[in-house]
Formats: sequence, C-alpha cells, structure tokens
Amino acid sequence: MSSTRQILVTSALPYANGPIHLGHLLEYIQTDIWVRFQNSRGHQCTYVCADDAHGTAIMLRAEQEGVTAQQLIDRVREEHHSDFKGFNVHFDNFYSTHSTENRELSELIYTRLRDAGHIATREIQQMYDPEKGLFLADRFIKGTCPKCGAEDQYGDNCEKCSATYTPAELINPRSAISGATPEMRTSQHFFFKLPDFADMLSKWTQDGRLQPQIANKLKEWFETGLQEWDISRDAPYFGFEIPDAPGKYFYVWLDAPIGYLASFKNLCDRTAELDFDTYWKVDSEAEVYHFIGKDIVYFHALFWPAMLSGAGMRTPTAVNCHGFVTVNGEKMSKSRGTFIKAATYLKHLNPEYLRYYFAAKLTSRVDDLDLNLEDFVQRVNSDLVGKVVNIASRCAGFIKKAGGQLGSTQANEDLLAHFEAAGEAIAEDFEAREFGRAMRKVMELADEANTWINDAAPWVLAKEAGQEAQVQAICTTGIHLFRVLMVYLAPVVPDMAEQARQFLKLDNLDWDSRTQRMHGHTIEKFKPLMTRVESDRIDAMLADSRDDAAAEQALKEGASQPTGPLVEDPIADEINFDDFMKVDLRIARIAKAEHVEKAKKLLKLTLDLGGETRTVFSGIKSAYQPEDLEGRLTVMVANLAPRKMKFGLSEGMVLAAGDDEGIYLLEPHSGAKPGQRVT
Ligand code: MSP
Ligand code: ZN
Repeated sequence: MSSTRQILVTSALPYANGPIHLGHLLEYIQTDIWVRFQNSRGHQCTYVCADDAHGTAIMLRAEQEGVTAQQLIDRVREEHHSDFKGFNVHFDNFYSTHSTENRELSELIYTRLRDAGHIATREIQQMYDPEKGLFLADRFIKGTCPKCGAEDQYGDNCEKCSATYTPAELINPRSAISGATPEMRTSQHFFFKLPDFADMLSKWTQDGRLQPQIANKLKEWFETGLQEWDISRDAPYFGFEIPDAPGKYFYVWLDAPIGYLASFKNLCDRTAELDFDTYWKVDSEAEVYHFIGKDIVYFHALFWPAMLSGAGMRTPTAVNCHGFVTVNGEKMSKSRGTFIKAATYLKHLNPEYLRYYFAAKLTSRVDDLDLNLEDFVQRVNSDLVGKVVNIASRCAGFIKKAGGQLGSTQANEDLLAHFEAAGEAIAEDFEAREFGRAMRKVMELADEANTWINDAAPWVLAKEAGQEAQVQAICTTGIHLFRVLMVYLAPVVPDMAEQARQFLKLDNLDWDSRTQRMHGHTIEKFKPLMTRVESDRIDAMLADSRDDAAAEQALKEGASQPTGPLVEDPIADEINFDDFMKVDLRIARIAKAEHVEKAKKLLKLTLDLGGETRTVFSGIKSAYQPEDLEGRLTVMVANLAPRKMKFGLSEGMVLAAGDDEGIYLLEPHSGAKPGQRVT
C-alpha cells in the first residue's frame, strides 16, 4: 500500500437558518463515505464542517422566531449536529462561522488581499427599506413586472414571462420584508478584484482538479469575463465588521469558505498530531478536498482559490461536485411530502438504508440523483438484507452448534482469494468516488457467495453422518466471505459494520484486515444485522413531512404580515369575536363543477346551500377534476360581496388550504348538512 496520506476534507457549510433535509444529506453522506474509506486504508483523513451562520436570511429568520441571531444559530447548530449524528456522518469538528477563529482568519485573509492591492471600493446604488432601515437584496424586493404586468414578482426576474430587469425597473416596488416602498440610496462597497486572478484561475480550473463537466462550464464563464466581486454589506448585518471600515460587514460568502479553515484551526488547536500550517502553507504536501453541490461552484472554483492564492496560501487539491437530489423523479416538494427533513426520516427509517441507496447510485459526475422510493425499498431489501446479511445468517448457526469456533481449513480457498483480490479494484472505485460501481461489484460478489453456499448446501450435509468437518469448512469460508464484504461495505454502512465486527469479535474491519484468516477464532451468536424496509414506514414519513411543511408555512405566513415590528407585536392583526361572527361560513354541497373555457386556474362551481344556489369561481383547477368534486361537501363564505370576473359573477368563496405546490379543499365530517352555519 502507498504511504500514509494527510488529507483534509470538507463538505459545504449548511445555512444555520433551516433544518438538514435529504438533499443536503447526499453531500454529507457522500463525503463521509469517502472519508471513512480513506481512514480504512490507513490514511490520516480529517473531516471538518461548520454551520454557515451569517447573513441577512439568518438575521430575518431570528426575527421571525422572536429570538436573537445568536440564539438561533446555537439552536440550529445543535439540531444539525444531532441530524448528522443520526445519519452516522462523523465530523472531526463541526464548528460555526460565527467564531473567533473565523473572525481572525477572515481579517487576516482580507488584509493580505487589501495590502496586495486586490480590494477596490466604490459607491453603488441600491434599494433601501426606509421602514426596516435595511438595504435590500433583489430577492427581498417585490413588485409588478415591467414587461408583462404580472404582480408579485421578485426584484430581478419575472416568473411569469422570464424577463430579467433591475429592481429600479419594477412597477410599484415593495420591500418583501416590511411592505414599505423602497428608495434608491448610495453606499460605499468593497470589491474583491477577481480579474487580477484571471491567469491563475484559467490554469487552475483546467488542470484536472475539477470534473470535466465543471471545467467546461467554467470556460464559458471565462469567456464572458470575470467581474469584481462585491464583498461588503451595510449594517445592520449579522456577520463580521470589515477592519478599518465601521458599519461595513463582510458578505456572508466571504467568510463562509474561510469557515473551513476556522473549523480546522479550532481542531488543530486541541489535537497534537494536526498542524494547521502543514496543511495550508503554499507548498503543503497535504491534500485538501471540498465536496459541494453544483449550485455553489462559482464560489469554490473561482473566488475561493483566488482568495487563497492572493493571501499566500495553498489552494484545494480538488473540488468534488455532486448533483441535486430529486424524489420520485421530481424536485423535492412540500405538498407531496417529499421535502423530507433528516429528523423526520430518522423517526421512521434506519439511516443506513439511505446511505446505502445513495452510495449505490452515486458516481463521480455532477448528475442529479433520484431517490425513487419504490426502488429504495426494493434495493435495500434485496441487496443488504437479501444478499449480504443472508450469507452470515446461513452459516452462523452451524458454527454456533459446533461450539462457536471457526474451522482451520477453508472449503473454497479460490473463492475467498478472489474476494480478497477484488478489494484493489473496489478501492479504486471508492477513491474515484464511483461508489455505485463499487456497490455493484460488492453485490456481484455477494451473489457468487450465495450461489456457492446454495450449491454446497451445508444444511443438507449437516443431516448426514460424518460430515461435521465439511459443514464447518463450508461455513468457515462463508463467514470469511461475509467478513470481506463487510470490509468493503463498512464506509457505507458503519452501524451494520460495527455490529458485524462485534459478531465476528474482530478489532476492526479496516481494508487490509480482510486477508487475515480467522482460523480457530470464536465468534458471537448471530443477530440479524439489518431488517427489511417496510413500505408503510415510507408512507408515514411522507405524511409527517407534509405536516412539517404546513407548520413551516404557518410560521412564514405569520411573519409576512406587512405590519410593524414582528417581535414586539406578533399578533398585530388580532380580530375580536364580533369581527369573526361577521363572516358567514356555510356548509355547501358542490352540485356541479365545470371547466371554464380559457381559464387557467378556475373551475366553475354550482353550490347548494340547502335550498339556495350560488355560483362561485374557484382557483382550484390545478388540484381537482370537476367530476371528482360533484356531490362533495365543503365550506363557503356566503356573505362575501359578489365579484364580477372575466368569466361571470362569483357569489362567494369556497375554503381551501394551499400554496404554490398544492391545494386542498376543506371538507366537513360526514353528516353536516348544506346550508348549516359554521362557527
Ligand atoms: N451555506 C452555503 C455553503 C457555504 S460553503 C462555504 C450553502 N448552504 S446550503 O445549506 O444551502 O447547502 C449546503 C450544501 O447542500 C450545498 O453543497 C448544496 O449544494 C447542498 N444541497 C442543498 N440541497 C440539495 C439537494 N436537493 N440535493 C443535493 N445537494 C443539495 O449553500
Ligand atoms: Zn413578466
């Protein structure tokens, strides 16, 4: 084996304003598997991460929740930590970008860049929320599209007609935070002069550190030219103040990657065998890898290496980029329940199912990865339970009967040697992040083992006299084959591997240990190492996720009331009982439901109020077929002033829950009668 490598590995730092979900987990699981593999091979591989704790989004989220930013990031860090632990993602350090080390390193890198002439300052014009006293990023401004007139569009592009524009061009612009009309203001900003690094980057991005797909994409960016990067934000901002620039803060993306260094520094300061400079000096021989998603390439493949090189530090050995997780072929969706939080998954399913499934589908490329839930159940059950666990469970009983001791001869030396030798190619796959290919090889071996045990049929021999030695030899080989497979699977399913280790009574399952024979070795009684995935747990998890999404939505809606400070007065829009009683809610029977010609969203409903009939146009077409609605009961606002619409007069409104992703008509319990008042 090659000599010991010193390797530092990171995953992107998750934002501290929301929970970890299965999309994130692809990255942390991919990285964790790679790190565990390196350590299994005997290298010194260190894995650090942190919460990305700065920025406007976190400041506003804290305000929504009525807590301080520090309280929010402390709580979320605990949550993230426990989510990662739950999925056996093992960091050597999980830190925060809001730390002393990060402040010091950010100041150090910034001042080195500044003193080398790589920082520029100039005035820029930006929208400002006079009520909140805050400069507004484009996504915090909403208004009417100047091109097509669609309302409620973001400050930089229209979702209806795809036009792009500046916030100044929006008609009737509003601050999405306070509802106030924003004004243009001027302010001085600091810029990192990325074009200074054009030569360095054009080489750096094309010398094999990046995947071919990414390197090609970067070529396109080079052709459009590198721009100076705005690295400052005005107060109030949750972050670090820029040295010698009171009231100016580092933009969150400036100090976020420096958070990799800070987390590692914090670890080095309490670990004798790790030295910060050994890893980060210009001529370092240690290896540094960043694992990231495809949405943040620009930051890691351009700004970050430029910053490091401008500050006189080494640049990463490689940036490993993965695609996005989809669920059942579609973007994760809150209304379908496929926006699954790590914590919600853990309530229902074994984390190692997901680790195995991701591994089985991961390649070294940037393609998206689909979590197909039917395939997930099938694959985990057939591979891990059906193939791998099966080998041990078929052999262990006979060994136990013979006193729990493995024999000293093998029934199939060739097969075992073939299993051990396969480790070199499988190691190459792991090294190259071709986990799917590695898992296929492992499962092919498992198939060979099962076929051989079937043919050898120790359960048949066991019934014949004088075959004890042969039965023991077969099962001894079977257990050895199982051990080799568990060595290969250990980076992917560490819990299962740990149980296998205990069952086999071994010190470890490191890569090289696979060739040591366990002759005469006593093993433990066999316990099932993994149970089958049950599909009803999947359904329960999806239902739970829909509830999570509804709770989150409620928080958001409560917070988006454009009225005054939220923290001091969270129920500003309280109404009294009389106000409530003014709304005449009635049970209605949908007598008829019809499509409306040319209407994209509307259905025409004829409602029976127990004698009286009303016509209502309702925007529920995306969710319901007219024929499915007829005969159903629902709830309507009966005293809403009639509204003249393009398609006719609407005499009331039916109640439905919904957002962009789904619509759910309210339905009373059976027995309610049309016309009854709802209070
Ligand atoms: N805070 C930044 C990263 C700063 S790194 C110096 C950030 N945070 S994030 O929480 O939005 O994302 C963290 C990582 O998870 C990113 O690499 C991102 O690509 C990845 N993913 C987030 N959603 C994902 C999927 N649905 N699928 C796969 N990866 C996803 O970006
Ligand atoms: Zn438009």
